[in-house]
Amino acid sequence: MQDDGKALVAYFAYSENVGDTSSMEIDAITSASLNRETSNTEGNLQVMAQVIEEKKAADVFHIQMTEPYPMDYSTMLPISVEQMQNEDWPALQSKIENLEEYDVIYIGVPVWNSVLPPAMNTFFAENDLSGKTIVPFGIHLGSRFGRMIEQMKELAPGATVTDGFTINAETDNDEVKTEFGEWLDALVLNP
Ligand SMILES: Cc1cc2nc3c(=O)[nH]c(=O)nc-3n(C[C@H](O)[C@H](O)[C@H](O)COP(=O)(O)O)c2cc1C
Repeated sequence: MQDDGKALVAYFAYSENVGDTSSMEIDAITSASLNRETSNTEGNLQVMAQVIEEKKAADVFHIQMTEPYPMDYSTMLPISVEQMQNEDWPALQSKIENLEEYDVIYIGVPVWNSVLPPAMNTFFAENDLSGKTIVPFGIHLGSRFGRMIEQMKELAPGATVTDGFTINAETDNDEVKTEFGEWLDALVLNP
């Protein structure tokens, strides 16, 4: 394995930020169906996080709000839009511990209204990623990264943000695992 320094994967998954997540194990949340049939296309961000964890011996940080969104999609949608419009960034449960230990931060997000989910603004404000290399990865339903890469560069001006990997959220988990694994193997961070 190429030595890129110590890695952390930090990701914001909708499924880990809805309903009462306080007493739930992450695995249970991941497999929880959000009013959809359980399928082999859910949890693709988690699939990619696991690939990074395995291939890069990365630690994992779950970006979770103190107040999760309501489980019901039609109720949560206007809440998130209002947060974006008012720049009312939600509080997070924790900050990254021992941030100074990490050289590379893989950041995973779904694209929301072509930008980062509101909680990511808090994440970047509370975790100073200056001097780090940020590798974005994401899921989408058509917008690819939208404006998220530019936003990460704006929110972490002292970091180096690389090209990222994004995939349609409805792609089969196994296909995501293979495609993302190949992309990660080919990624050169310190040429
Ligand atoms: C509030 C909200 C806004 C979204 N906006 C976009 C968008 O602008 N473009 C897009 O391709 N997908 C958009 N999506 C779809 C998400 O990217 C999609 O929900 C996600 O990739 C699937 O993962 P999930 O099951 O964790 O929601 C949006 C989803 C939500 C909840």
